[in-house]
Amino acid sequence: MDERLQCARFPRSSTYHPEWVLASFSSGANALWLTEWLTEWLTEAVDLRPGMRVLDLGCGRAMSSIFLRREFDVQVWAVDLWFNPSENMQRIRDAGVEDGVFPLHCDARMLPFATEFFDAIVSIDSFVYYGTDDMYLNNLARFVKPGGVIGVAGAGLVRELPGEIPDHLHAWWKQDQPWCFHTPGWWRNHWGRTSIVDVERADTLDDGWRYWADWLRLIAPDNTTEISAVETDGGRFLGYVRTVGRRRADSPLYDPAVSIPLNYLQKPLMRV
Ligand SMILES: C[S@@+](CC[C@H](N)C(=O)[O-])C[C@H]1O[C@@H](n2cnc3c(N)ncnc32)[C@H](O)[C@@H]1O
Repeated sequence: MDERLQCARFPRSSTYHPEWVLASFSSGANALWLTEWLTEWLTEAVDLRPGMRVLDLGCGRAMSSIFLRREFDVQVWAVDLWFNPSENMQRIRDAGVEDGVFPLHCDARMLPFATEFFDAIVSIDSFVYYGTDDMYLNNLARFVKPGGVIGVAGAGLVRELPGEIPDHLHAWWKQDQPWCFHTPGWWRNHWGRTSIVDVERADTLDDGWRYWADWLRLIAPDNTTEISAVETDGGRFLGYVRTVGRRRADSPLYDPAVSIPLNYLQKPLMRV
């Protein structure tokens, strides 16, 4: 019996074959664990019912999309920017869920869906790449029905950093992604102040840093810089953050400007 990725905390994820998980991952976080954690709340909050339409935003190699289809029998639109939808289609087909998981290549900032198309939107270890933009929630929320939920889980901060990056994180901290890591309190404020959603949950996964380190040791044992940063940190700052908001019916959303109508007026350039 292959004991890898057996984890009592994540019973649903533990039923998936470790070889399949290791051939399908696309992230420094285990997408199945994070999806299971997120859906623990989503199933209470939305009662994910068969046939519901779910957007899996930034799905990578679509493990989370396949999981959502298999575990909850929902229809999933598996959207990603960097990973190839044709590869995902093969994975989806081999998983036997091609009738309910639809891979698409597109940018989260230019989604091609009709307004209020989805019952729920989820995003696993991806939202930080675009979702910290102050205008993004307004852009995204129009695709979920009023009363529908947007749920995000991924790497983040369990508490705010002091003014400077702590010494033990220096070697790992680069100039890109970690600056987008935020605390549950930050996300609660970021979303809550807009009144677009009611924030129903913003929290961290207990011992998230241990799952982070366990996963890294398995998929990238040579990445000693990150493993050492996570282990030395020991949950002081780094962990997994989950945020769930429910779209309010009373909050108007504005269509983002995608093109300005032609309106050229010829005028003299100089006073002369
Ligand atoms: C760390 S990976 C996580 C992938 C997957 N959700 C998982 O957990 O395994 C981040 C993902 O975000 C996606 N992403 C980043 N920026 C994006 C954007 N602007 N639009 C859509 N996807 C984006 C990338 O394509 C990548 O697959």
